[in-house]
Amino acid sequence: MNTKLVVGNWKMNGDLTANAALAGSLLLAMGTPRCAVAVCAPMPYLAQMQAILANSPVALGAQDVSSHADGAFTGEISGSMLRDFGVRYVIVGHSERRQYHGETDQLVADKVKQALAVGVTPIVCMGETLAQREAGATEEVVRRQLAAVVHGNGHCISEIVLAYEPVWAIGTGKTASPEQAQKVHAVLRAQLRAATDHAAGVKILYGGSMNAGNAAQLLVQSDIDGGLIGGASLKAQEFLAIIAAADAVAASA
Ligand code: 13P
Repeated sequence: MNTKLVVGNWKMNGDLTANAALAGSLLLAMGTPRCAVAVCAPMPYLAQMQAILANSPVALGAQDVSSHADGAFTGEISGSMLRDFGVRYVIVGHSERRQYHGETDQLVADKVKQALAVGVTPIVCMGETLAQREAGATEEVVRRQLAAVVHGNGHCISEIVLAYEPVWAIGTGKTASPEQAQKVHAVLRAQLRAATDHAAGVKILYGGSMNAGNAAQLLVQSDIDGGLIGGASLKAQEFLAIIAAADAVAASA
């Protein structure tokens, strides 16, 4: 069985003092987890987090990357800039960026390409809105979102991480049931299988109100390879409990 991957998405939260306290608490109590762990910090704090996380079991992640390699793109951050700060993962196509910044499937695919080109692993987010779920369009939506990434990145698709994040479950306290999540993860896995011989090794994370109380039931599902955690990743004890749940599931597999 693959190791689980537990990723915190801090979103637009924190400051120098709070980040140091949160990361310090995590590292103090974490030991050596069996699963892979990362935190995705806001851009201005990448240097701070690079220093704090150096030689620790926690990898550094960012929350976005430009779809261009370099040039006159004011305000954008390139993949090679992220790599300069030791960034190992970058979240791409989060629903908050699709919704508030008009990111299209094509733009997301282009960003994935830029990340892959510099050796930063994109964590590509996809998921349906409540209206789409109620209209029975969940599978169609996630298949379309993944198809754009597969089309733009060919066999490199085996190098990405996927995150299924139903929009209606993000920050709402409503989690997809383990069965609902597993069903969509299986759809994504099947689609990956058609695109690469290495589909079994592609991690598919679940995100959306994952917390210490529900993590184990989600992570035990056969196609749920980890979590992308928002709110609960801002509380050290809660995030540590999710990591412990991931380790317990892996140990019992
Ligand atoms: P919450 O865990 O706060 O629901 O956020 C999930 C998410 O959007 C992670 O990227």
